[in-house]
Amino acid sequence: MINVGICGLGFMGMIHYLAYQKVRGAKVKAICEKIPERLAGDWRSIKGNFGPRGKKMNLAGIATYSELDKMLADPNIDMVDICLPPCAHAETAIAALKAGKHVLCEKPIALAVDDARRMVKTANQAGKMLMIAHVLPFFAAYRFALNTIQSKKYGRFLGGNFTRVISDPLWLKDFYDPNGCGGPMVDLHIHDAHFIRLICGMPKAVHSVGRMRGRVAEYFNTQFLCSDPSLVVTATSGVINQQGRPFTNGYEIHLQRATLLFESWTQTPVTVLTDDGRVRRPKFTSGTDETDDFAAELTEATKAVATGKPSKLLDGQLALDALILGQKQTESIVKRRPVRV
Ligand SMILES: NC(=O)c1ccc[n+]([C@@H]2O[C@H](COP(=O)([O-])OP(=O)(O)OC[C@H]3O[C@@H](n4cnc5c(N)ncnc54)[C@H](O)[C@@H]3O)[C@@H](O)[C@H]2O)c1
Repeated sequence: MINVGICGLGFMGMIHYLAYQKVRGAKVKAICEKIPERLAGDWRSIKGNFGPRGKKMNLAGIATYSELDKMLADPNIDMVDICLPPCAHAETAIAALKAGKHVLCEKPIALAVDDARRMVKTANQAGKMLMIAHVLPFFAAYRFALNTIQSKKYGRFLGGNFTRVISDPLWLKDFYDPNGCGGPMVDLHIHDAHFIRLICGMPKAVHSVGRMRGRVAEYFNTQFLCSDPSLVVTATSGVINQQGRPFTNGYEIHLQRATLLFESWTQTPVTVLTDDGRVRRPKFTSGTDETDDFAAELTEATKAVATGKPSKLLDGQLALDALILGQKQTESIVKRRPVRV
């Protein structure tokens, strides 16, 4: 059994807690949170943009800490699951790794590339796992795309376009603060940057055109220039100011003998167009609620710790590469030219 200590019991901490109830081989044994009511089990103030509302919980059998050091000194904890705001990821992860714990940390790995590099270096020095909870590859539509690309069932991957656009998240006060949420590049687009890095390797350069809001990119279009010059990979991400725009994500992925389509806004389910003219909509076994994809992600992390075999999808270096891409994309927008990665 892998014993988990969750650090930060806000929206994502709650989602992870609920998802762990479906994970075989892991148990939440401790929670570290600075808001006393949440530590006492009153989660009614927690809400996010999906999933259930917080309610009163029975935390019997779970050690509760208001200070990280005390949880890190708890010898019963094998893995620290960090669900803190991004500005706290680096120092918390480094402290946990130095205390001999494995770490699963919510995305983005960190706000600054140097901090993310320190996290990866500390994990290597400590001989502990640093996993970053990029959940996109565990969502059915993206898992299907990843498996289809990697299986080469329809031939070579030729490229694709990835979209992730939202209306202004007015309830997040520090969304555009480079030291808070970090803006749409590291909060939103990083999901696609991570997925693109996963399927294409590390691009050689990026060319982004976009609008800035203060020091962060608000809305942008990127071409990812890969070592294979025939790969055409693009992404559109960011915020538009009309509140009628719901959260929108999607892709159009080109393979030699098929095109894969998915778009949440137009309610286009995953669709496979093949070169015999057929249009197919694969069926997925849908889970009972939105925590199922997170349970799949946490199962992957649990298995990695239990077997000692690192997860390719949750790899810290992969998440660092996604952050580097985002930093280079912002640089490209500001300099108005392609930037080498
Ligand atoms: N994968 C996804 O789909 C997804 C969705 C939302 C958020 N996230 C990520 O999850 C992370 C957390 O976001 P959130 O929306 O849950 O934030 P949140 O503000 O709802 O929760 C953060 C919690 O951490 C607590 N906290 C802050 N500093 C602390 C400290 N020093 N010690 C103990 N507790 C402390 C806060 O009191 C709060 O309860 C972010 O990195 C975010 O990017 C991921």
